Amino acid sequence: MHKEFLSPSTYATLKFGKQLARLLKPKDIICLLGDLGCGKTVLTKGIAQGLGFGKNAVSSPTFTFLNVYEGKKDLYHFDLYRIESDRELAGIGVEDFLYGQGICVVEWADKLGAFMPKECLKIVITHKAGEKRHMTFYGHGDRGCAILEMIKV
Ligand SMILES: Nc1ncnc2c1ncn2[C@@H]1O[C@H](COP(=O)(O)OP(=O)(O)O)[C@@H](O)[C@H]1O
Ligand SMILES: [Mg+2]
Repeated sequence: MHKEFLSPSTYATLKFGKQLARLLKPKDIICLLGDLGCGKTVLTKGIAQGLGFGKNAVSSPTFTFLNVYEGKKDLYHFDLYRIESDRELAGIGVEDFLYGQGICVVEWADKLGAFMPKECLKIVITHKAGEKRHMTFYGHGDRGCAILEMIKV
């Protein structure tokens, strides 16, 4: 089972992220997959806004693989663009955060390799013409499927 959403604009992706945030609870993991510029960070910003973080809270970290936002529900924002191996992931203690108390949003989740969580919502984003972005949602494990079920598209 999967669901799909065609976002017509940056604003629509932000808005979708805000709505998605309402479905999330601590320890949930959202895995984002898609090329550079497809809107992973925009979606993460929407999620952050939905969790009550300020409009400018989320940046696109070039040299940090993780940003932690502490709030009513904590948000761990991973950007694994520069990660090259499972060894490197192990070295930075990725599991401590992945299975910590926060809600995890992982950009470039394909880089998780052997650390790919069994329970997560996976979102594959692709570029379409102009500002259009196509998102496909897949639920993995009980919780991933439960989130998928709740998503309204
Ligand atoms: N429908 C859309 N959804 C998300 N971003 C969009 C959309 N249309 C255009 N964009 C633009 O595409 C870029 C996406 O950038 P970003 O979120 O940083 O990508 P990524 O993190 O996937 O590399 C932004 O400049 C954003 O304004
Ligand atoms: Mg990004």
